[in-house]
Amino acid sequence: MPVTDTIGSPHAANPRRPRVATPRRFLMCAPRHYDVTYSINPWMDPGKPVDAGLALAQWEALRDRYVSLGHRVDVIDPLEGLPDMVFAANGATVVDGKVLGARFRHAERTAEGPAYLSWFLRNGYTDTHWPEYINEGEGDYLVVGRRILAGTGFRTDPRSHAEAQEYFGLPVTGLTLVNPRFYHLDTALAVLTDDEIMYYPEAFSEGSRSVLRELFPDAILADAQDADAFGLNALSDGRNVLLPEAATGLHRKLRERGFEPIGVELGELLHAGGSVKCCTLELRD
Ligand code: ARG
Repeated sequence: MPVTDTIGSPHAANPRRPRVATPRRFLMCAPRHYDVTYSINPWMDPGKPVDAGLALAQWEALRDRYVSLGHRVDVIDPLEGLPDMVFAANGATVVDGKVLGARFRHAERTAEGPAYLSWFLRNGYTDTHWPEYINEGEGDYLVVGRRILAGTGFRTDPRSHAEAQEYFGLPVTGLTLVNPRFYHLDTALAVLTDDEIMYYPEAFSEGSRSVLRELFPDAILADAQDADAFGLNALSDGRNVLLPEAATGLHRKLRERGFEPIGVELGELLHAGGSVKCCTLELRD
């Protein structure tokens, strides 16, 4: 019989087992120069006005919520002329204290890569790698326990997946995104614990859906309404799951599995195609 490499979870068998939060360290970037001045994904319409004050207030509420949950938030100074720099998830991928820099697909965001890497160099990170291939950080690299799920299709070059595997020394599983509204992996899939995820199957190619079913047979599946509300752009600490308020179906499913869903309102940032996870880069030291 072939051995199936399934990532099983004790919670599937016993959903009442208490969920345990572990303290995290995040890097965030205040949207002080935030705007929608170009369009590089279907959510962005430069013709629509953005309320900069409201965007900042919503971002501050997210940061404060992390702190009140016991997490540590470091900040990087936003740079003028880089309106998408608020989406810190794209700035790098950090695992075991090793920093894989980001190399952006679009010229509008290119300068963010070196800006984020220089923050790491200034803050004591000695093991860093400037990438050969395009990769948009944790937008497309999601860490699940000791495995990395890697998106491609719109932004990250599939050749980057081998580069990341070699650098981190962890298995990297490539997944292909097919719907331009879900252009980064973190818009279509969220990590909940070291062995549990939730995702929107329709965002993935047929083969990638099959891979996800194979690896995570007990995953929470999102429907179109939750995915459109950016419900998968979520951040979990193992117990608390911060996600857009409007993803009501996911709130219910998470609660049924013993998680504590926390609704967050980041509507102004959604005008650029981002929400909770996009604003958050996890520092795994
Ligand atoms: N406007 C940004 C872009 O299209 C949004 C990035 C969202 N970040 C994320 N991690 N999905 O690049």
